[in-house]
Amino acid sequence: MTRKEQIKSAYKLTGSNASFYDGMMTYSTLPGKAICRLIWNMDQEKNLRYIEQALSGVPEDFAGKLLEVPVGTGVLTMPVYKELPDADITCLDYSADMMGAAQKKAEAAGIKNITFRQGDVGELPFDDGSFDTVLSLNGFHAFPDKEAAYRETFRVLKPGGTFCGCFYIEGGCRRTDWFIRHLYVRKGFFTPPFETEISLKKRLSAIYEDVQLTMVEGIGCFCCKRKA
Ligand SMILES: C[S@@+](CC[C@H](N)C(=O)[O-])C[C@H]1O[C@@H](n2cnc3c(N)ncnc32)[C@H](O)[C@@H]1O
Repeated sequence: MTRKEQIKSAYKLTGSNASFYDGMMTYSTLPGKAICRLIWNMDQEKNLRYIEQALSGVPEDFAGKLLEVPVGTGVLTMPVYKELPDADITCLDYSADMMGAAQKKAEAAGIKNITFRQGDVGELPFDDGSFDTVLSLNGFHAFPDKEAAYRETFRVLKPGGTFCGCFYIEGGCRRTDWFIRHLYVRKGFFTPPFETEISLKKRLSAIYEDVQLTMVEGIGCFCCKRKA
């Protein structure tokens, strides 16, 4: 199954019975589609494009050690992990509820090579240089202590390892910026300060190499390598 098909299978997996969150992340329910369009200015093509781009740092035959933080409900990644039977995967999240939903998806899909750990990205319970890849989808805009999160994701990555993922970037879409400022921050869904395209590129380039940053509306998709 190609990566695009894997992501599309997540869309089908959730379908019209999806939880509100999963429906929104996969553009697969009526309320989810409305939020994607209204707040994020994204249709299905853009939604698929940003997820594909964010996952581009994980090769389709990946067989190393991967940390995903935060895994959330696992809606975007469980279909991908199903196709990576030789990888050694660790998924971490602060919220037992969100991660419980990811665990259920993994069990239902018969995925056996994932270890789930509850924890804080700002204090990762792993040794230095433990992982070949650190994947972070839609987390950095939510993490309260972003400096600690950048420090820790860097620390647990092996020299030469890949750091990739995506999150909200200020300045990519004016309408999104308005909703984030007036709704998401007030409700506590997202925590400032937020990166801009320029600030993120500068931050990543200071400690990583081969930095690629692609914007899809207000989402920045990044992929870089820890300097060897
Ligand atoms: C928007 S969700 C993203 C989940 C998933 N990666 C996705 O794209 O659907 C943000 C997640 O960050 C988790 N989170 C927030 N602060 C955290 C922290 N300090 N350490 C670990 N996880 C955290 C939340 O529990 C939530 O599951």
